[in-house]
Amino acid sequence: MSNVLFEIKDLEVSYGSIAAIKGISLEVRKGEIVTILGANGAGKTTTMRTISQLLKAKAGSIQFKGQELTQMPAHKIVKLGISHSPEGRRVFGVLTVEENLMLGAYSQRKLDREVLEWVYQLFPRLKERRKQLAGTLSGGEQQMLAIGRALMSKPEMLLLDEPSLGIAPILVKAIFKQIKEIAKSGVTVLLVEQNAKAALKLADRGYVLDVGTIALSGTSAELLASEKIQEAYLGKKH
Ligand SMILES: Nc1ncnc2c1ncn2[C@@H]1O[C@H](COP(=O)(O)OP(=O)(O)OP(=O)(O)O)[C@@H](O)[C@H]1O
Ligand SMILES: [Mg+2]
Repeated sequence: MSNVLFEIKDLEVSYGSIAAIKGISLEVRKGEIVTILGANGAGKTTTMRTISQLLKAKAGSIQFKGQELTQMPAHKIVKLGISHSPEGRRVFGVLTVEENLMLGAYSQRKLDREVLEWVYQLFPRLKERRKQLAGTLSGGEQQMLAIGRALMSKPEMLLLDEPSLGIAPILVKAIFKQIKEIAKSGVTVLLVEQNAKAALKLADRGYVLDVGTIALSGTSAELLASEKIQEAYLGKKH
């Protein structure tokens, strides 16, 4: 298919003798928002951490712009243009908002004030609170910070692991709106979510992960209309 930016083929990942990812394949085209849906324990975070090389694949390949990632050290992945906003946000609580953002730019030779201003424009609350310790931010604000920090390395592809986790619906809406803005600016987005409805409204296409295998894939419209998805994730019974 044309314009493939990122591709996973037959990926397997294990924790010791336990297989968490059992041969998945997926692709992301330039400019797309693609979502990976799935229940607790499906393997979503494992997939994201393996893309970032924080976990090593047991088999299979992961390619970004034609380059194989599976043998690379984690720090090279950011340099290549992939940035990861991890599950649970992981902001540095004893550092200020702005210091957290600066850390996100560590792969750059010098800080790009324009990117910082763009992040502040996307999330004005971060600007208001730029001198505040990140540990005192609300959960939703910490999520904005985690996304903002990931943007500071000027990625071509952004990995977002459950940005809606533990956040009030109104703030989820606000954050997802800004994810759309980020995508519009040219950043390709791979979004892991349990909130299937919100994710499919935002994404172009999706994959459903079920205990380490891809159970279903399609355009967001196809997935939203699928009975399987409706029963399993949208709480509708037929
Ligand atoms: N460090 C680990 N050691 C052993 N098993 C692990 C480890 N991390 C994850 N697993 C197992 O791998 C499987 C996939 O976990 P993963 O965190 O990728 O799921 P997930 O889809 O992100 O779930 P959630 O929606 O709860 O975040 C689970 O069965 C989990 O118990
Ligand atoms: Mg997870």
